[in-house]
Amino acid sequence: MENIIEVKNLTKTYNRKTILSKLSFQVKKGELFTLIGPNGAGKTTLFKILTGQIKQDSGTARIFDINVESLLESKYKLRISYVPQADLLWDNLTVKENIFLMGKLYGLKKAQIEEKANKFLTDFNLIEHQNKLASKLSGGMKKKLSIAMSLMNDPLLLFLDEPTTGLDIEARTLLTEDLKKLKEEGITIILTTHLMEVAESLASKVLIIDKGKVVAFGKIENIINKFIGDKVLQVGCLKRNAEFEDFINKEVKSLKKTDYIRIKQTFFFKGEKVQELMQVISSSKFIEDIYEINIKKSSLKEAFLFITNKIYKNGNNSNFLLEVRK
Ligand SMILES: Nc1ncnc2c1ncn2[C@@H]1O[C@H](COP(=O)(O)OP(=O)(O)OP(=O)(O)O)[C@@H](O)[C@H]1O
Ligand SMILES: [Mg+2]
Repeated sequence: MENIIEVKNLTKTYNRKTILSKLSFQVKKGELFTLIGPNGAGKTTLFKILTGQIKQDSGTARIFDINVESLLESKYKLRISYVPQADLLWDNLTVKENIFLMGKLYGLKKAQIEEKANKFLTDFNLIEHQNKLASKLSGGMKKKLSIAMSLMNDPLLLFLDEPTTGLDIEARTLLTEDLKKLKEEGITIILTTHLMEVAESLASKVLIIDKGKVVAFGKIENIINKFIGDKVLQVGCLKRNAEFEDFINKEVKSLKKTDYIRIKQTFFFKGEKVQELMQVISSSKFIEDIYEINIKKSSLKEAFLFITNKIYKNGNNSNFLLEVRK
């Protein structure tokens, strides 16, 4: 069984509104896989379907070659962990008691629980907080405790919905290291995050969804190459200036509408023309209203902005999707 997760044409509607639309993708055994998409794209909904909490309207989702609807009756039931976006902890129990109770629920022996609890409390820097009530933890500590608890059952498959939210930079770095370690131990991990640098540092495969549709899927470097190329020009304007947008459209004749995006007062340009554009803009009168202008190496962040903004800009996205699917 090469594919641990196999999703085909998955569709979900809420009150006649389409939330997921014919979603298809696969996650291979041992893969570290990041799902990204703007707020409301459908990430949590997808996780809920994959973990059997809600049902799709049509399409199939198979995990370990079993339809998700039957997963809870299978031998894999206790080997799949899910850390929801909103932490689920026993608030009136301490950190240690939360972990111990989880171990008990999984039917582990006392000695096993103690060994694992010690390991995870240490790994996640929670030892000194082990006697605190869960309700008294900071947001980041709650997240770490939730993840530690999700590892008590030696999962084969781990779903993490925004595990990095609320973590400080050190905790985030440690977590990405831990996730890489877990991957090396053979655990298949699928996570969502809004932090592109997390996906990049995990060197994971990425699925980008927007409005419930797959808009890009693959290795990060391939996504960057395909959608924006190796360089982008970023121009930050002090104020919204329609005249400036007219100017660049007129001045650089070969500039296409799809070669740039604007997010409020910040413009991102891609393509061959970025050097020329920078010079044209720098020597124009508009430079006075610009606080930032530089060409930088493209990252997933810019690729993501181009991919998700292109959709809004173009309205009907059918050609664009075809291009992505190739
Ligand atoms: N129980 C529900 N009933 C009706 N609509 C829902 C329900 N749950 C989610 N939705 C809607 O489905 C859409 C997708 O929500 P979802 O939580 O899956 O997004 P998300 O990608 O996880 O977003 P975020 O990045 O903010 O966590 C949203 O428009 C949301 O309002
Ligand atoms: Mg969500």
